[in-house]
Amino acid sequence: MVLRTISEGLSDAISDYISSNPASKSNHENASQYLPGGNTRSVLYTSPFPITFVFANGITLSSADGCTYLDFLGEYTAGLFGHSNEQIKNAIQDAVESGWGFGGVGVWEGQLARRVCERFGIERCRFTNSGTEANLMAIAVAKVVTHKKKILVFGGAYHGSVLAFPSTELQSPLNVPHEFIVGPYNDIKYIQSLQKDLTITNDLAAILVEQMQGAGGCHAASPEFLQSLRELADNTKSILIFDEVMTSRLHPGGLQSYHGVKPDMTTLGKYLAGGSSFGCFGGKEEIMKAFDEGRSDGGLVLSHPGTFNNNVISMRAGCVALEILTDDVLVEMNTLGEGMRKELNELCINYGVQERMWVTGVGSLMALHFGERKEGDDFREYVEVKDKDAEDLFWFWMIENGVYLARRGFVALTIEHRKEHVERFLEVAEGFLKTWAHVFR
Ligand SMILES: Cc1ncc(COP(=O)(O)O)c(C=O)c1O
Repeated sequence: MVLRTISEGLSDAISDYISSNPASKSNHENASQYLPGGNTRSVLYTSPFPITFVFANGITLSSADGCTYLDFLGEYTAGLFGHSNEQIKNAIQDAVESGWGFGGVGVWEGQLARRVCERFGIERCRFTNSGTEANLMAIAVAKVVTHKKKILVFGGAYHGSVLAFPSTELQSPLNVPHEFIVGPYNDIKYIQSLQKDLTITNDLAAILVEQMQGAGGCHAASPEFLQSLRELADNTKSILIFDEVMTSRLHPGGLQSYHGVKPDMTTLGKYLAGGSSFGCFGGKEEIMKAFDEGRSDGGLVLSHPGTFNNNVISMRAGCVALEILTDDVLVEMNTLGEGMRKELNELCINYGVQERMWVTGVGSLMALHFGERKEGDDFREYVEVKDKDAEDLFWFWMIENGVYLARRGFVALTIEHRKEHVERFLEVAEGFLKTWAHVFR
């Protein structure tokens, strides 16, 4: 048998993809006349064009080209309840029946706030429309209440469209113009050295960190690193913000309750409104009370008016979503993910490719990596390790076999995933290894 190279495989896979998806191609071309890149959400861009979906049910997606996919992307974690959960559907229908856009206060925002605060141990919170906005608000509040300017973030972090730090050297040119210090993730020695740098510590307003970098490749922080951030925040009287937009689903009470390191503020988003647009920032009352316009103690008053902050669809769907997501349901989903990651890594070992293909993550969130792995080097910045062609080849293989995941190898399970779905993923991934393991050796 003649073994093909990656570039031959990729070229064939792309030709097949183009010929199998003419309706998606045409939709992309039409949309591109008005939307740069043919879409309005950059993460969805994929070359030569993304698949256009027309219908979703449970964990299946149907394309404009008549193909059905098993969904392993879970709407980048926001689709934790699958695509058509009956209870969430009813809540949205009820919201529609009740009329929407009151331009006034409803009963649901207070109820959702109670559920969010109780669940994550937050004293007071405020809602936004996205995780990006939640992080923007948290940083802005931290600067105002501390009267300081610097924000410590980490290479590989993604906190939103205007808060992206692909590496310690590289920031998105679209980033908001705060005074960011971008440190290496998971590096306790770096944090210890910062403690001695008065030019930074004297002006440190906030530390913003993901306990597992999601978009950055599902790299988890060590408990010691998180503890060192807590100490830095305490010593410098700065505000420790945990961005739990992705990670809050990984443990009852969020990943912070697993590690036991308590932040001053938490930001949330994604799945918490059952799949409707949502963001939330919250934390200690002494910080959040600045948003109480009725306060009578003469303290700081800040305004946060956002038109859609209490949109009735997200508020109602969120209340139901948090009822559905009991600790047992959440733990079951994450246990399934733990097992899946373990089995995927075992497959890589069985085919002798574990130094070139491996999986990282926590619970129901994981990322497949293609590149050169170094022993004990799971926390390197994602941009440095990529073997883009291998990553692409894997993606086209999975798509061709009816399994949908992010082009960058990101996988998010939902509460609708079962063992048999995971087995199907593993079966298709093994098919890939049977055909392509030789290019990794
Ligand atoms: C950790 C983290 N923070 C913030 C965001 C931004 O959330 P949104 O896309 O809702 O603005 C994301 C989105 O992927 C995220 O993963």
